[in-house]
Order: sequence, then structure tokens, then C-alpha cells
Amino acid sequence: MLRLLLFILFLCSTTPICAQGNPIGVVSSAHPLASQAGAEILKNGGNAFDAAIAVSSTLSVVEPFGSGLGGGGFFLIYDAASDRYSMIDARERAPLNSTADLYLDNLGNPIPRLSIDGALAAGIPGLPAGLAFLNGNYGTMSFEETLEFAFKTAQDGFIVDERLQDRVYSQWERFNDEAKNIFSSPNDEPIAAGEILVQEDLARSISMISESHARDFYEGILSITLLEATQAMGGIWTAEDLMDYEIIEREPLIESFFGHNIISVPPPSSGGIALFQMLSMLNQLDYFSLNSTDQIHVLIESMRRAYRDRAQYLGDSDYVDVPMEMLLSERHTNESLNDFDMNRASNSEPMMLDEADFQEGMDTTHFSIIDQFGNIVSATQSINYNFGSGMIASGTGIFLNNEMDDFSIKPGYPNLYGLVGSEANAIAPGKRMLSSMTPTIITSEEDVMAIGTPGGSRIITMVMLAILDWIENKSVEQSVNHLRIHHQYLPDMLQIEPGAINSATINDLRGRGHEIEELENNFGNMFAAAKKYQEDSYSGAADFRGVGSVLIVYD
Ligand code: DON
Repeated sequence: MLRLLLFILFLCSTTPICAQGNPIGVVSSAHPLASQAGAEILKNGGNAFDAAIAVSSTLSVVEPFGSGLGGGGFFLIYDAASDRYSMIDARERAPLNSTADLYLDNLGNPIPRLSIDGALAAGIPGLPAGLAFLNGNYGTMSFEETLEFAFKTAQDGFIVDERLQDRVYSQWERFNDEAKNIFSSPNDEPIAAGEILVQEDLARSISMISESHARDFYEGILSITLLEATQAMGGIWTAEDLMDYEIIEREPLIESFFGHNIISVPPPSSGGIALFQMLSMLNQLDYFSLNSTDQIHVLIESMRRAYRDRAQYLGDSDYVDVPMEMLLSERHTNESLNDFDMNRASNSEPMMLDEADFQEGMDTTHFSIIDQFGNIVSATQSINYNFGSGMIASGTGIFLNNEMDDFSIKPGYPNLYGLVGSEANAIAPGKRMLSSMTPTIITSEEDVMAIGTPGGSRIITMVMLAILDWIENKSVEQSVNHLRIHHQYLPDMLQIEPGAINSATINDLRGRGHEIEELENNFGNMFAAAKKYQEDSYSGAADFRGVGSVLIVYD
């Protein structure tokens, strides 16, 4: 916290971002340098989409464990000029040579960690194409200008903080030699806090992406380097995979709940559907009129039911028929709640899927931006697990993602986050793996907030809890810092952050039949940006669980 304050003081004394004038926007992201990159763009007259490119690319440099150019993401945007919401889908795709049984042995059993470690775990990246798409369709500045901050930060280096140090240390054994070389101190030890991390190869890749408007990544020298490297590491990418990669612009899901308009992401994210299903159930059960213990019971039961549907029905809607209308219908909400009992926990047995342990979802990253023109960006991007597959493609400085693990590699077999799936999320060539990333925007006549977080399977419930606070008129900070609870159908267990529920309530809930795990650590890393229309004022919040920052930008 102290470091953050010092940083802001430093920023205010050295740059005009904090100079008082009229507020012209807000940037909220998981790393102070990424927020600075976005704020400088807004300050220089760029719009939220220009700033998004700067923030996204800088996060790839300063938070290399969370997201990167070798990964993907979803950009949920509001374009004020056309008064239109849109979702830019830069999600990774399965390589064309992949098959439904890619990670199974001859007996049909999953081969441990094959979808997690190494080049075979990597989907075809979408982030470089996503940034070029944003620039080409919504940006006002040159691509080079928006990528300049990331380029410089990779080229000149930046000071490693404890968070990065700890991640490097914990994942060291998974790194290939290329990654170890880049992330080591001169004495060949994992790089430590206080040292400068220079990423020359990554700087060169950013510059190639910048000069070619990302074409080089998909059909140029960089693509050849990437292909050679992945193939040498046992990957199955082909030139056709990279050439065929396409950004898809999708219609977001938009629905009104409790007097607010909520805009969220459609498949291949499960986020919007699950979020809307849960809110529909809460609405049906008159959530806001309940006492606090009943509220938690109702939250758990709505989470359970939405995640059951997620497991059964959701996948890439370009490949499988996702019955969205049915899932979001009032009739389905009512049917789902048929067996709801305020005094008894339901159980998660009926689907007979395997149970699994959770992995801490510590990676992935979210940022939110609002500009003076009324544009909004709510973006979550990922390489999946910590440093993705742990492999840097030789000569590129780019970590390969391990997003293939988000597919259901066998029906009912849990992934890293304990999520199970069905045929709907089975691997197929070119298909996008189901995601939980839930960048969301919530508006009313008075205000708007853009919000999202990393956290694997828990993302969707975290976003919902924050939205419920916002609906209750809590501040953006309160909404983001809310202590969290999570249920995901399987394992049949409520997870709670330390202090999230008092012990009398825990006992009451246990009495109703809920299994409760009191976690030792917090989870999530949420970043929100908000605007009040009448006052023309901006605010934002950076999760107390992380090291990110909010910058309000003045003209
Ligand atoms: O797309 C997804 O749902 C996951 N790949 C997100 C991973 C994640 O959030 C990791 N951790 N915090």
C-alpha cells in the first residue's frame, strides 16, 4: 500500500496525469505501469480503445505470468460514437491437428498434465490479432504509438516486484531453458525483487507486431519462429493455424436486473450466461428482501445451478448448439428452482460427474477503462495458468499459453479449476475452449461501471458479488473489495475467503447441509472503472488483494 502511494506521488510529481484540471477518464489495472501506459494515452488525446492496447500490451510485459501475446482474451466494449456494445473475441483456438482425445492414453484415460505443461497445451493465440483489430476498427492513434510503452518497458526493463519474484520462483521447475534464461539473475538464480527485468526478445516481437499490424505474428518471420519453436517442443501448430486465426466480433448479452442494465460476454465464455442465470434466480427468490443468512443460502443455490448448466450445456457456440434462449428463459429459471428449499442445501449428485480439487486461480488479468468520449473497455486476458505452459518460444520472448486445459479433455474429468464439462466443450480443430472470463459493464441512468477479475472458475461468482453490491449503492471500492464466497456445483462445497462469513452464520449454513471450506488465502484480483453521468466524475477501484492501481486522468 505504501509503495502504491509513493508511486502515485511520484507519478503526480513527474507527469501531468494527476495535474488537476477536468477529469477525462479512468484506467484501472493489475499493475501500476500498465495503468500508467493507459493513462498517458488518454492524456495525449487517445480514446479508451487506444488506451486498452497500451494497457493490454504492457500487462504482457510486466505481468508475464498472467497474460501475454501468446494468449488471448475478451474485450467487452462500448463504442459511444455508434452507441453500441460489442465483444471482441480474441480467445485462443484449438490447433487444426487436434482431436477430441488429444490428452488421453490408449485406454482413454487423461495423461496427467499433458494439457497443462509444455507446447502441446497451447492454443492458437488471439491477443496480437485482438489488439490489431481494436486499433483498426476503434482506435484513433497509430498502432505503434499505442504499443510504444510496452515496447520500451520490455526493452529498457522494469523493477521486479515481490509478486513477480514469487511467481517466477514457484514456477521455475516448469520453465524451459529459454524462460529460465530470461527470468534469471546474472548469477543464474530466479530473478529477485528489486532487480531489473529486461526482455529483449519480447521487445523485438512487440516491434514486429507493431510494424506489421500483427500480421507478422500470423504470417511472417515471427510466425515462422513461433512455429519452429513450438514444433521443436512437441507442439502441433501449423502455418495454417496461424494464418486462419480470426477475431470474431460478437453481440454481447444484455439484460436488465434490479433496475440496472448488465452487459456481459456470450460464448465461448460461460460468464455472461452463468451470471444472468444466477441473477435471474436471485430475482425470482427476492434476494434483496432476505436476511443475510438466507441471502448466502440463496447465493449458493443459484451458483450451484448455474454451474451445473455450465458443465452440461456450454461450449463454443460456433461449433455446438448452445441452448442460450432456453437457459436464459424465465421458465428455465423456475424449473431450476423447483427443488429449492430455503432450509436445506440441494446436492450436486444428479449429474454424476467426478469431483476435483481446486487450483488457486492466480493468473489472468483484468482492466477497465472509461474515456472522456464515453467509450468503455472491460477486458480480461489470459495465458491460463501461471506463465501458461511454462514454455517461451525460442527467440520470441513470448510464453505459450496452456489454455487447451479449459476444454473438457474427457467428459466429467475436471480441469485445473475443478471444472467439469461435457461434449459441448470437447476439443475440436479450430474450436475455442470454454472460458469463465467475465468482463462486464453495468449501467443505469445515473452511472456506469466496468468490472472483471482473474480467478479461473471463481471469476463469474466474484463478478456477481461485486455487481450485487453496486446494485445496493455501495461504492466501487466496496464492490471490488467485498469478501468472497464461491460454489461451482462440483465439488459440492462452499469456499469462503477469511472473514467472509461469521461463525454463527457458518454454523447455520452447515445446519442446512452446506459443506463449507474456510480458505486461508484471499482470491481474485478485480479492477473496476466507474463514471457518474450527472457529475461527470470518474472513479475506480483496485483490488486490495493485488498490487494494481487506478489512475484518474485530467486534461
Ligand atoms: O478462460 C478461463 O476461464 C481461464 N483460462 C481463466 C484462468 C484464470 O483466471 C486463472 N487465474 N486466475
